Amino acid sequence: MQGIYNLPDGPKMPLFVRLMQFIFQPLEYVEGLTKNYGDSITVWGNKGTPIIYFTQPQALQQIFTADGSCLDAGRTNRGLSFLFGTNSLLLLDGERHQRQRQLLTPPLHGDRMRAYGETIRTITRQVMESWEIDKPLVIRESMQEISLRVILQVVFGLEEGQRLEELRQLLSSLLDFISSPFMSAATFFDFFMKDFGAWSPWGWVLRQIQKIDKLIYALIQERRTELNQNRQDVLSLMMSARDENGEAMSDAELRDELITLLVAGHETTASALTWAFYWIDRLPEVRQKLLTELATLGENPDPTTVTKLPYLSAVCQETLRIHPIVMSATPRVVRSPINIMGYDLPEGAVIVPSIYLAHHREEVYPQPKQFKPERFLEKQFSPYEYLPFGGGNRRCIGLAFALYEMKLVLATVLMRFQLSPTNKRSQRPVRRGMTMAAPAGMRMVVKPNSYKRELTVLKS
Ligand code: HEM
Repeated sequence: MQGIYNLPDGPKMPLFVRLMQFIFQPLEYVEGLTKNYGDSITVWGNKGTPIIYFTQPQALQQIFTADGSCLDAGRTNRGLSFLFGTNSLLLLDGERHQRQRQLLTPPLHGDRMRAYGETIRTITRQVMESWEIDKPLVIRESMQEISLRVILQVVFGLEEGQRLEELRQLLSSLLDFISSPFMSAATFFDFFMKDFGAWSPWGWVLRQIQKIDKLIYALIQERRTELNQNRQDVLSLMMSARDENGEAMSDAELRDELITLLVAGHETTASALTWAFYWIDRLPEVRQKLLTELATLGENPDPTTVTKLPYLSAVCQETLRIHPIVMSATPRVVRSPINIMGYDLPEGAVIVPSIYLAHHREEVYPQPKQFKPERFLEKQFSPYEYLPFGGGNRRCIGLAFALYEMKLVLATVLMRFQLSPTNKRSQRPVRRGMTMAAPAGMRMVVKPNSYKRELTVLKS
């Protein structure tokens, strides 16, 4: 395709060098692209496929509002079918994608969040019980423990017990392994993804997935025969959902969507929470404003009231702006030629809507490297300027859930503790699979906070 079409300019360095930088220095990679080539950049992929990064709000609007039949996104995730299966929302396109979205949306809709609030708060308190005052903890691990337990209870409907523990351990070790930068690099090479037995890296991955599947299918069977018809977990709601033809989801579809929600939903939220604690401690005025806002609520406020607090909401928004957990929305493959920003993109070209670069545009967010929640109190940004959850017909289905969980966990922790990084140097995000996370070694010391004192002052 190279040379025939009118495409934006971009780097000419060898694919391997670019790939290594994309994996090991992802921020430097995209920042370099826009610094050297501007708002729209073409990089050339394997087999001469043009991959075009777009960063301006106008371009993102054109992409997200384009006719769904012109662009495919599921196709670019096919390499993940070893984990998600072939029925996952992430891998589907066209009508099948639409059908799965219709079935999955109601249980994750904003109105349902009320039912999940108490569970989120209880789990946060349980995890906090294991924290020791003045002792450092690896904050990302603690946040992952919370978000994984939340997903297992809210989505799978699993109560504390052996099965929850077994699934939790299998998933944690699997995700830790496949999310390492080494594995991210390895999956680009076909020979690595071969099963040479249980002791080979890929053989181990496949066997872990088999063990997880066994537990999930057993759970689905159990749920089918269960007498309790009033269950409110996402799995039960998915099982009772029907499409336009009155059809329910098959066991394989349920399995694939459960794994999808679990993987897409837990590390993302945990990383966002980790960054929020990092900024809250770095900027005492932000922390103070949050505590003052929380102090207006009393000691055991209704979860939904907490999630409506304006400053808390702005802190979450700014966290996801400055550190979008997913650097770009799912790449879209052009199915029929389309014009974006004056460029004629041919069939087969790949479009990358860059969330990170959109969130760091100086003219939209003055001083973009600074953490300023006030931006979100002063201005309403368009969905093409602010897009931590992507957009269009692929926008994150867990948006409401993630924000609800973030706010409740933050409020519950801050009402009791202050978390301070042991290392005061500023931290850069690192790749963790498809997401950008805080460095694994980031530790925070747990201290009791002044919230109770402030509450007393405000009441007197
Ligand atoms: C802070 C947390 C989260 C962030 C930053 C995030 C971000 C994203 C982004 C950027 C996309 C791609 C959208 C696009 O291509 O336009 C996405 C898709 C998706 N997310 Fe999330 N997500 C988060 C939490 C969750 C949660 C909690 C769940 C489920 C419980 C979830 C489930 C999904 C699914 C299933 C998709 C695929 C949607 C589709 O292809 O139709 N995510 N997410």
